[in-house]
Amino acid sequence: MTGHYIAFEGIEGTGKSTIAARLAGYLEQRGIDVIRVREPGGTATGERIRQVLLDPEGSVAPWSEALLFASARAQLAAELVGPALRSGKWVVSDRSVYSSLAYQGGGRGLGVAEVRRVNTPGLGDVWPEMVVLLRLDAVTGLSRQNDPDRIGAEGIDFQTTVGETFDQLAAAEPDLFAVVDASEDIAAVWTTVRDQVERRWTISSTA
Ligand code: TYD
Repeated sequence: MTGHYIAFEGIEGTGKSTIAARLAGYLEQRGIDVIRVREPGGTATGERIRQVLLDPEGSVAPWSEALLFASARAQLAAELVGPALRSGKWVVSDRSVYSSLAYQGGGRGLGVAEVRRVNTPGLGDVWPEMVVLLRLDAVTGLSRQNDPDRIGAEGIDFQTTVGETFDQLAAAEPDLFAVVDASEDIAAVWTTVRDQVERRWTISSTA
């Protein structure tokens, strides 16, 4: 038996964490065994790498950054996500490899194909089956941010490029991505996300 892997993506300030938490709770209420993870992080090793990556005082060169994200992700896949899926659990994730494609591939200009290539060996077959892209313009996203981390503190041009790269990724894989307008209020965003998930999988109510 294998579970399902759903990742939430988007630029800063889209409400990913709130919606991911709501989805996990909704699935649990219906008797589904679900774990929630976040990237970078989710494991002891990954959380240490997260500190290095996000420290506002830190200095991390672009390829070092891309490889550290890939490293934290490989740890998460080996330790948590892979085993969870193989045991039939669902995984709801705050960000995924697609953040690296958009932020490092697009935002940092390292190239989507190159960044995909360095992430592939550490992931094996542990790739999200559904990516919910919460779409928001960069100005609104940044205005919702308080206490930005090292990458969140990059300016509007960087965020705009990241957003454009997410759009390109979604257009290239329309069956994988569900694109949701995150400028709506959170209740409306949640309803749309729930409908999209239910369109993919039959979720019976045990409540
Ligand atoms: P996150 O904890 O989701 O922060 P936020 O809630 O502010 O979006 O992500 C931390 C930062 O790391 C965020 O700026 C996005 C960035 N990031 C990448 O640049 N590449 C990646 O592969 C991942 C997973 C995150």
